[in-house]
Amino acid sequence: MSTTRAVSPGKRVIVLGGSSEIGVAIVRELQSRGPREVMLVGRDPAALAVAAEELRGSGSAPVGTLELDALDTERHEEVLGQAFAELGGADIVILAVGVLGERGGLPSDVASASELLRVNVVGAGSLLMHAARRLRDGGGGALVVLSSVAAERPRRANAVYGASKAGLDALARGLGDDLHDAGVRVLVVRPGFVRTRMTHGLEPAPLSTDPGSVARVVADGLDSGARVVWAPPALRWLMLVVRMLPGPLFRRLKQ
Ligand SMILES: NC(=O)c1ccc[n+]([C@@H]2O[C@H](COP(=O)([O-])OP(=O)(O)OC[C@H]3O[C@@H](n4cnc5c(N)ncnc54)[C@H](OP(=O)(O)O)[C@@H]3O)[C@@H](O)[C@H]2O)c1
Repeated sequence: MSTTRAVSPGKRVIVLGGSSEIGVAIVRELQSRGPREVMLVGRDPAALAVAAEELRGSGSAPVGTLELDALDTERHEEVLGQAFAELGGADIVILAVGVLGERGGLPSDVASASELLRVNVVGAGSLLMHAARRLRDGGGGALVVLSSVAAERPRRANAVYGASKAGLDALARGLGDDLHDAGVRVLVVRPGFVRTRMTHGLEPAPLSTDPGSVARVVADGLDSGARVVWAPPALRWLMLVVRMLPGPLFRRLKQ
C-alpha cells in the first residue's frame, strides 16, 4: 500500500480478523460515511483477498492486507507495527477475531474448546493490547471490540464461548477506562445472533440480525461516543432482564 495520504486524518481503519463478515460490514458502513484507508489483518490470505476486493468496490481509498494468526502472539507486535506504519498511523482499529466452537455446556472436545479460549481471549486480548498501545502512542483513536451478549451471562449452551467473550469484554472495558485520558476510546460491541458464516446452520435466536445492521449500530456508536453498544439496540434491555433472572429459571434456557 502506498504511504501517500489518500484520505484525511481520522479515516484510517485497521481490521484485526480482516475477513470477518461483521468487520467488513463495519468498514463498508464507515466508507458510506466518508473515504477510509483500510488495512485488513487476518490469517487466511485467500479470505483476506476476497474481503479486500469487496471493499475496493465499495470505497475509493486503498485497501491493503497483512497475514497474522491470532494464535501467533509472538508476531503480534511486529505485524501491528507494520499495519500502523503502512497507513501512517490508525484512527480506528476493529477487533473482529473470534470463533464460536462447539455448542453445549461441557465440551466433548476439550482440546478444541481450549484452543477457542486461546483464540478468543489470549490471541484477541494480545491484539487488543498491542493495538491499544499503538493508538495511545500515536495520540489516540478508537478501538472497536467485537464482544457478544454471551459475555453478559454465559448460558449452559455456550459456556466456553461465553466465558471467552466475558474475558475479552472485561479486558476491553478495563483498558477503555485506563486509556480514556490518553485519547483512546474503546467501544465494546455486544451483538446477539448475527446471520454470518459463524452462525450458518444454527437456529436463529430471538432478535437475530444481519452484519449491515450491526455495522450501523457500531458507526453510530463511534459518532456518539458510546462505550458499549448492543446490536440490535433492544438487546440492551432484554439482557438487563436476562442478567437478573434467578438461577433455577436461567438454567432452564437450553439454547
Ligand atoms: N455472528 C454472530 O452471531 C456473532 C454474535 C456476537 C459476536 N460475534 C463476534 O463478532 C466477531 C466477528 O464474527 P463474524 O460473525 O463476522 O464471523 P466470521 O466471519 O467467522 O469472523 C470471524 C473472524 O475471526 C477470524 N479468526 C478466527 N480464528 C482466527 C485466528 N486464529 N487468527 C486470526 N483470525 C482468526 C476469522 O478468520 P478466517 O477467515 O481465517 O476464519 C474471521 O475473520 C467475532 O469475534 C464473533 O465472536 C459474532
